[in-house]
Amino acid sequence: MKITLKLIFSLVLIATLVVLGFTFFQVQNERNRLTHELDVRAEILTEGLNESVKELLKAKSPVGLKRLVERFGGRERLIGVAVYDSLGNSIVSSINKSITIQDSVVHVNESIIRGEGIASFIEIDGKSMHSYAVPLHLDDQTVGALLVLHDASFIDSRIKEIWQTNFVRLLIQTLLIIISTVLIVRWSVIWPIEKIAEWMRNIRTGKTNQSIRLQQGDILKPLADEVTLLSKSLSLARASAEEEARLRLQAESVWTAERLKEHVRQEISDKNLIVVSNREPYLHTKQGNNIECIIPAGGLVTALDPILKACGGVWIAHGSGDADQETADINGRLPVPPEEPAYILRRIFLTKEEEEGYYYGFSNEGIWPLCHITHTRPTFRLDDWINYQTVNQKFADTIIDEIKDQKEPLIFIQDYHFALLPFLIKAKRPDAHVALFWHIPWPNPEVFGICPWKKEILVGLLGADLIGFHIQFHCNNFLETVDRYLESKINWDQFNVERLGGVTSVKPFPISIAFPNLPANASEISQSQKAFREIVFKKIGFSTKYFGVGVDRIDYTKGILERFLAVERFFEKYPDFIGQFTFVGLGAPSRTHIKRYHDLISELDETVDKINWRFQTKSWKPIVFLKAHHSHEQINPFYKTADLCMVTSLHDGMNLVAKEFVASRVDNDGVLILSQFTGASRELQDAIIVNPYSIEEMADAIHSALIMKHKERSERMTRMQNILKERNVYRWAANIITTLSRLRVTINMEEK
Ligand code: G6P
Repeated sequence: MKITLKLIFSLVLIATLVVLGFTFFQVQNERNRLTHELDVRAEILTEGLNESVKELLKAKSPVGLKRLVERFGGRERLIGVAVYDSLGNSIVSSINKSITIQDSVVHVNESIIRGEGIASFIEIDGKSMHSYAVPLHLDDQTVGALLVLHDASFIDSRIKEIWQTNFVRLLIQTLLIIISTVLIVRWSVIWPIEKIAEWMRNIRTGKTNQSIRLQQGDILKPLADEVTLLSKSLSLARASAEEEARLRLQAESVWTAERLKEHVRQEISDKNLIVVSNREPYLHTKQGNNIECIIPAGGLVTALDPILKACGGVWIAHGSGDADQETADINGRLPVPPEEPAYILRRIFLTKEEEEGYYYGFSNEGIWPLCHITHTRPTFRLDDWINYQTVNQKFADTIIDEIKDQKEPLIFIQDYHFALLPFLIKAKRPDAHVALFWHIPWPNPEVFGICPWKKEILVGLLGADLIGFHIQFHCNNFLETVDRYLESKINWDQFNVERLGGVTSVKPFPISIAFPNLPANASEISQSQKAFREIVFKKIGFSTKYFGVGVDRIDYTKGILERFLAVERFFEKYPDFIGQFTFVGLGAPSRTHIKRYHDLISELDETVDKINWRFQTKSWKPIVFLKAHHSHEQINPFYKTADLCMVTSLHDGMNLVAKEFVASRVDNDGVLILSQFTGASRELQDAIIVNPYSIEEMADAIHSALIMKHKERSERMTRMQNILKERNVYRWAANIITTLSRLRVTINMEEK
């Protein structure tokens, strides 16, 4: 407001000075003009009288003179006319006697002496008068003088009037100046400034990052333009500060590929990481004349590929694809991933007989059903056992070759296919740090006890410095099994086994996924969600209000049949949902060479047919079962848009489908129905936890998921995501590798 006052004061002052100046000149002019007018009038009058007065003076006719002066008495503003003799004595006068004209008489005398007319203003009785005295000459002699007296007070009145008019004008101007200044300052300065200030405040507090719109030509436009640039720099600076803070926080709590890479480099310095598994991460098959590269289904590859991508190293695995040999070098090596190589895949090729006995037989018909309590009877054949031993030895030989130039190498073995490998490696390379991660459950000692070669398996495993399971419960089962069947010392406080001078630590390491960075933009999310849902409906051939998804290898441990039966029961119990909900099963055929797996596919097909026959309409089916190997890209639209995902394993070490579903939900929506018999159910407690053997419970879980309020769905999903963000696969790998590399490995194998 101060500036407005200053502006008003200055403008009013200037206006006043201007008005005063102009009025002064106007007054001067007016006074001069009126004075001149009076002068002229007096002169004309005296000129008109001059001759007649002189005649009458000459004729010495005071009566005539009197009559003459009185004749002029009525003229406008004329007070009167007086005639004086040469000595300045009044001869005749029409001027009222009450008016004192002493000053005029002085002028009369002066004009007689100077011989010229004298005009002046005099004040008579407080009134302004114009007196004009002119000498009268007769025959070159001054015979007297003529005095004409006019009332000049109208000049003062006129001047006063001018002053008054101009004063009123000044007042009006001042008022207009004040009003227009206040309005202009408000409209053009204060409001835009307030607007800019508010906008800047919003930018500062992060409420907006939009630029402000000001009219072209607005005095504040250059300022706004500059501030817009400034705000852009501020937004950028803020974004990078937030990103830096986020990364700093992440660096403390969240493991990333980069952090793992750095960490592993420091932990194992120049040594290579050797990963060993049966299933290879990249498998080449012939498709007509072409060779196709496939990423096999299953949690193991999902978990380990990102780690090798981050850390580099060598992955040794069974080359099972029919084009594997021709896509690798003579030693079975090739850089992978094919499109962006980050590590070496070394393939080991097996004979048909070896594959049959070791993989299909002992591993998948023996140990797999032995460790998964699913009422599928394990089969143990001597031939399979021999092949299992042979293949383990074959892998051991390749590993020994791979690490021949390395000191204290780090060997990370995966799963139940290689129970004998740790011992075989350690026998040759006691300096090697060997860890084995058992990706499937470990049963209780009674169950495990039915295996004819249980002791050999335990001895083989205990060659490792570290054995990992997903959960503590499986660690306990393992230690109890060792305790039951081998002579050894179990340190329950340290969770390790001492046997023949060697120590094997047994610890839980819950495996996970590489949690992707979720996009932030809500509108982008909702657009892509729509597009993904359309992809889903195109794939299943019709659209439906709700849909659920299940993604599995077709395996009897996954509870796929139970899930279909639960869907059937759901429609029986909640018929309102007929035509509204469809369950989509994405099943990757697996181990189909094994009868149980082969039969399972037929059993599932029959069940789906039966249920669909019962409920389907012309344009809708209750279950769509898509049996094929689906890539991550193909599965994603289902994960991202399903109303629910069912993971109903009868027994599962961890189950990464549950975690992948949660991680894919950029929209924080969707409900996870999760079996209580999965390792994942220990961490993902915001899922609807079910007993997959209870069809009723699962049917109700589907119903609960579909009627769950959005708020609850979103809160549950957010909590699960927060857990997975932190407990990702990089943390899993870092924990195992750190634990392994820091373990003392001075084992005397001969003693062992
Ligand atoms: C489970 C096992 C893995 C195995 C995967 C796929 O996740 O723990 O070791 O690789 O299933 O099975 P497959 O027999 O096809 O390798």
